[in-house]
Amino acid sequence: MSDFEPPVVRPRRLRTTAAMRELVAETTLRPAQLVLPLFVREGLAEPRPIGSMPGVVQHTRDTLRKAVVEAAEAGLRGVMLFGIPEAKDADGTGATDPEGILNVAIADVKAEVGTDLVVMADLCLDEFTDHGHCGVLTAAGEVDNDATLARYAAMAQVQAAAGVDMVGPSGMMDGQVAVVRDALDAVGHTGTGILAYSAKYASAFYGPFREAVDSTLEGDRRTYQQDPRNGREGVAEALLDVAEGADMVMVKPALAYLDVLHRVREAVDVPVAAYNISGEYAMVEAAAERGWIDREPAILETLTSIRRAGADVILTYWAAEAARLLGR
Ligand code: PBG
Repeated sequence: MSDFEPPVVRPRRLRTTAAMRELVAETTLRPAQLVLPLFVREGLAEPRPIGSMPGVVQHTRDTLRKAVVEAAEAGLRGVMLFGIPEAKDADGTGATDPEGILNVAIADVKAEVGTDLVVMADLCLDEFTDHGHCGVLTAAGEVDNDATLARYAAMAQVQAAAGVDMVGPSGMMDGQVAVVRDALDAVGHTGTGILAYSAKYASAFYGPFREAVDSTLEGDRRTYQQDPRNGREGVAEALLDVAEGADMVMVKPALAYLDVLHRVREAVDVPVAAYNISGEYAMVEAAAERGWIDREPAILETLTSIRRAGADVILTYWAAEAARLLGR
């Protein structure tokens, strides 16, 4: 080693102690940046566990109320509600029934937490249709874009009447944000926001969610959700949604699409959300259950990576627990 040259640059100096690492950390993860997705099912007497999502349940109306209070107490600032009706039909009429499970749940939650939480709701038909698609079908069985838009418009108005703060159109129909914005404004709900699921990919990682909402889908959503091979298209979809009036845009899933998230963050000026979806949750939970990974650090590393890639807001089933781990 006679020709050994000591390094001139020593990046390790900034890693020496916990205090130093805290001081120079580039990325923050705070409870207020996390949104908790919650499921409420019509006609349940007890919360029902979701097998593929350990720790996540379908709530009763009562336990949902408790869950949102806990979410607020944990320091979260938002929840995203999904409703599962007892009966499904071809048009997903439960979605636009003011007495439908999602709409009554929105009112329950608003009555419970008022303005302490931003109450968001999924605006999509897949939980309500018997065929499981996000829209209504043509006679030939194809998802009918424009007929679906009319259903989304009605759904937005009913959710707004129930008191929702932000609707989350997630069906990837063309023009959905513009139609929802018009529908809200037309009935005076100019203050109701839109969190647009803008770059939403046809992903295998939604698997556990299908169990969570008792989905009856056969086949796939590839005629409306995006092809995983397309990154530029995700940016284009986000720009379209901003032009149509989205207050916030979302990239979904998160982990396999961190590059898209990064590009969308650079391309728009509105807040960007990312959805850390059911399959991403299930993978960590399953591996941790087997003792293959250390669960809590894996959760925090997952969420931090999504923030680092550019998410302002993260929807995650770990939101309440992560808030506790972060100690506020
Ligand atoms: C559609 C919707 C889905 C998810 C959220 N909204 C399912 C889908 O598009 O197939 C998935 C969320 C998750 O996997 O955690 N209503």
